[in-house]
This record gives sequence, structure tokens and C-alpha cells, in this order.
Amino acid sequence: MKTILVTGGAGFIGNCFCKLLLKERPEWKVVNVDSLTYAANPSTIKEELKNPNYVFYKTDIRDREGIFNIFEKEHPNIVVNFAAESHVDRSIENPGIFLETNILGTQILMDACRKYGIERFHQVGTDEVYGDLPLDRPDLFFHEDTPIHTSSPYSTSKASADLLVLAYHRTYELPVTISRCSNNYGPYQFPEKLIPLMINNANHDKPLPVYGEGLNVRDWLYVEDHCRGILSVLEKGRVGEIYNLGGHNEKANIEIVKIILKELGKPESLITYVTDRKGHDQRYAIDPAKAMAELGWQPTIMFKDGIKLTIKWYQEHKDWLDECTSGEYLKYYKKMYGDR
Ligand code: NAD
Ligand code: DAU
Repeated sequence: MKTILVTGGAGFIGNCFCKLLLKERPEWKVVNVDSLTYAANPSTIKEELKNPNYVFYKTDIRDREGIFNIFEKEHPNIVVNFAAESHVDRSIENPGIFLETNILGTQILMDACRKYGIERFHQVGTDEVYGDLPLDRPDLFFHEDTPIHTSSPYSTSKASADLLVLAYHRTYELPVTISRCSNNYGPYQFPEKLIPLMINNANHDKPLPVYGEGLNVRDWLYVEDHCRGILSVLEKGRVGEIYNLGGHNEKANIEIVKIILKELGKPESLITYVTDRKGHDQRYAIDPAKAMAELGWQPTIMFKDGIKLTIKWYQEHKDWLDECTSGEYLKYYKKMYGDR
């Protein structure tokens, strides 16, 4: 019996991780701490709330007292920190909250771990900390020792958090691990990110806003494969180590958009090229060899299958999408795309 505290467990990846734990580690208690920002649709966790092994606290990781109270009550053995401001475009508009949640929130969690004791603190990191690779060098990949070289306020806040996690390991001997993953896709992703945004727009016959020429490359991994990778790091990873997770599945954005349109039976005339993202990273490409060799982890869902599963899920959960895209989202959309 272990108690695992998952932060950001109402978000896209954190919720998938909680679902995986409840299914595959039924003897563990899962404590989800999430402040339910705009990125969390409360109905995402409605099934989990019925599970007796699952507890939910609506608490902000920046709230030191609130976090310490939860540790006092739950005594977690393991903490996995997913909670973050996660969207690059929002970080360009408003960097402050990214520094607060992603860096200071991480510090508060680790301070609680130091005070109450912990077997493992795991930080969910991103490949964006390595910066980008040129489009004309397909031979280059991100390795765990690739220098940190960030582009956006988002990636800089995530890199800062990673460095702080390593500092707490070195200075206070906190038993930490870090995973750095490539772009995730799958059910329950908030429709501000490329794939669900394009599906939602196509469903409504709205223009599909492709940044620049659509040639930027991302390395896509099905969300459940990411979550299995994190579980492998917890169970087999070495303390103090970083593990890159990715599936060698690089695609240009325009390819993804065309796949979505084809799958939905919508015309390519919906594609609209818009002003590029500021500081737009060209290409991400993870080398996951270390995780594969040391943890025996490897992706199980091929992109051609995963993207079909994903589109089907959004088609069958239009209510969930509608809940996400009312209210604040409309203002956001107008601001980001109105006269782009
Ligand atoms: P998300 O935006 O879908 O979810 C983030 C969750 O964190 C939400 O439920 C939100 O309510 C919660 N949250 C935000 N600020 C909080 C705070 N101050 N206190 C408590 N809860 C808070 O993000 P995601 O895509 O699921 O990403 C999860 C983690 O994985 C992030 O750390 C992100 O950097 C990392 N990551 C994401 C990807 C990706 O492709 N989405 C890839 C690699 C790494
Ligand atoms: O690589 C991991 C990262 O992947 C995570 O750390 C981030 O949390 C996650 O948001 C994601 O970052 P990206 O910036 O790569 O994802 P996003 O879905 O925002 O954009 C993917 C690509 O699509 C990127 O090149 C920008 C482009 N894009 C995005 C949107 C939202 C468009 O062309 N049009 C759009 O409307």
C-alpha cells in the first residue's frame, strides 16, 4: 500500500496518470491536488471521484499552508508533479503566472517533501527545455545531456523548475527523478493545443489556424505511453536521474492538420495560414534510448492508431469539448486568433 500524491491530476496528462494508477496499482491510494485552472474541466475527473482509492483536493500548489496540510493528513510516499501552466502561447502573453506556478509551486512541493519525508519526488518535465533543432538536420536528437537552451517563458519556467529539483537533490539529498517528454496527444487535452483545437474547429467548419508555413516539427507520443513511462521511472529509475520519453514520431504541423481533416471528411480549404508564434521552436526530437535500455519502457501506440483513437474520442465527447470552449475560451480565442 502506497499513497501517491499527483498534482495537476485534473489536467490532460495528470488525469491519464491517475486513471492508469487506479487500474494498474489498485492497492495504491491516489491523492489528486489540483486548483482547477481554466485548463481543467471538472467533469474530467467525475469517474475517478467514485473510486474509494481516490481523493481530490482543490488546492493550489502555490499555497504553502494548504499543501503542507495535505502532506500532514495524507503522508504521501511518492509525489508526482504535473501541475503547471502548460501552454506556450499563453506564456508569451502573460509570463508571470508561469514563473509562479511552475517554479515556486515546485519549490513549495519539495519543501513539503523535505519536511514530511518522501520516497520519491518526480518532476514531469518537457523536451522544450532543450530548445529546438534545425529542420535540415534530421540526424540530431535531444539527449539527457543536451544543454538547456530555452525559447519561451513556458520552457524557461520548466527548465528553472528542473534545475531547482536537481539542486534539492544535491543540496538536501531529496530523492528526485525527472522525465522530459515530447508532445503528447490523446483524450481530454484542452482545445488550446494543436490537435484538439484543430478537431474542434473542423467540427464547426471554422478556419484551422496554422502558424507560419506549418513546417515546424513535433515528436508525438500517445498520452498513456507517457504515463507508463513515468510509472517506469518511479519503479525502476535511479534517483537523481533524468529520463527522456518520446516515440520517434516526428511530424510537421501541416501533416497533422491534413490527417485530421481527412479523418473528419472536411476540406483542406479550411486551412488558414496565420502569423507565426513569436520565437517558434523549429523541431523537437527526443532520443529515448536511456529510458528504453534502463527501464525497459517503450511506446505501445503507433501514431496512425493513436490519432484515430483520439479523433474518435473527441467525436464521442462533444459535450466535454463544449464545456471547455464556452466562457473564458471564447475571449482567449478572440485575443489569440482574432486578427492574427
Ligand atoms: P494541462 O494544462 O492540461 O493541465 C495542467 C493541470 O495543472 C490542470 O489540471 C490545472 O488545473 C493544474 N494546475 C495548474 N496550475 C496549478 C496550480 N498552481 N496548482 C494546482 N494545480 C494547478 O497540462 P498537461 O498537458 O496535462 O501537462 C502536464 C505536465 O506535463 C506539465 O507539467 C507539462 O509541462 C508537462 N508536459 C506536457 C506535455 C504535453 O504535450 N502536454 C509534454 C511534456 C511535458
Ligand atoms: O514538447 C512538449 C510540449 O508540447 C509541452 O511541454 C507543452 O506543454 C505542450 O503544450 C506542447 O507544446 P507545443 O508548443 O509544441 O504545443 P502546441 O499544441 O501549442 O503546438 C504544437 C505546434 O502546432 C507548434 O509548432 C505550434 C503549432 N500550432 C499550435 C496551435 C495551438 C499551430 O500551428 N496553430 C495553433 O493554433
